[in-house]
Amino acid sequence: MIIDIYSLFPEYFRGPFTSSIIARAQKAHLAEIHTHNIRDAATDRHKTCDDSPYGGGAGMVMKAEPVFQTVEQFYCGGPIIFLAPQGKVFNQKTAERLSSENRLSFICGHYEGVDERIIQHLATEVISLGDFVLTGGEPAVAVVADAVIRLIPGVLGNENSSADESHTSGLLEYPQYTRPAVFREWAAPTELLSGSHAEIFRWRRRQSLRKTLLLRPDMFTIWRQINSPLTKEDTKILAELNNEGLL
Ligand SMILES: C[S@@+](CC[C@H](N)C(=O)[O-])C[C@H]1O[C@@H](n2cnc3c(N)ncnc32)[C@H](O)[C@@H]1O
Repeated sequence: MIIDIYSLFPEYFRGPFTSSIIARAQKAHLAEIHTHNIRDAATDRHKTCDDSPYGGGAGMVMKAEPVFQTVEQFYCGGPIIFLAPQGKVFNQKTAERLSSENRLSFICGHYEGVDERIIQHLATEVISLGDFVLTGGEPAVAVVADAVIRLIPGVLGNENSSADESHTSGLLEYPQYTRPAVFREWAAPTELLSGSHAEIFRWRRRQSLRKTLLLRPDMFTIWRQINSPLTKEDTKILAELNNEGLL
């Protein structure tokens, strides 16, 4: 996958993509990330890329011309994503959809935002990271690109390692433990040390259902609708959780 990032502050990305799994993905040529400085397209002496808003008001607005010009210079297909609080809130489903693309472009806004014509006539979709306001689109792109890149086949060492994760299956992931078996006075669950694949599987499934029910009842309701009729095992676990007073 090739990712093009259009930003007034491309130096921001020196950090987020240079360590761990995302760095390895680039070394293995599974992901290629190109940052493009929008300011390079500014024609005046001061490299101006923002201007005061029509109609007045606080702050500055990113101008349409340098953004259009930079994107049009490098664009080679695929979705053009603008990051903004007004967009559709990012989630795992969107990450999965984007991970199947060969090429993605991200435009980072800054200051008070961008000239609306960028959103209307250049971006093909708008994604928000959540109901809060960042200083710029750069941290949002770092997050979205990270979530997308790790889903590209081959990026995670074990192909199955994203299958059980929170949000992939519609449930939150079960709790994880590692050595030592007892840390301070807190012991890891005996089921996980049992060596029995069936017992471990059942414990994890129960914990996953329990955690989702307790922490994200909204997710649980959707999961239950989608997974009707339930498997025998899930029906049994839910009956137990019901006896615990959780349902
Ligand atoms: C200070 S914000 C502008 C906010 C804008 N005035 C508004 O009220 O919607 C500057 C830029 O940060 C990015 N940004 C801010 N919050 C974001 C969020 N929740 N998700 C994605 N991008 C965001 C957008 O690219 C935005 O253009």
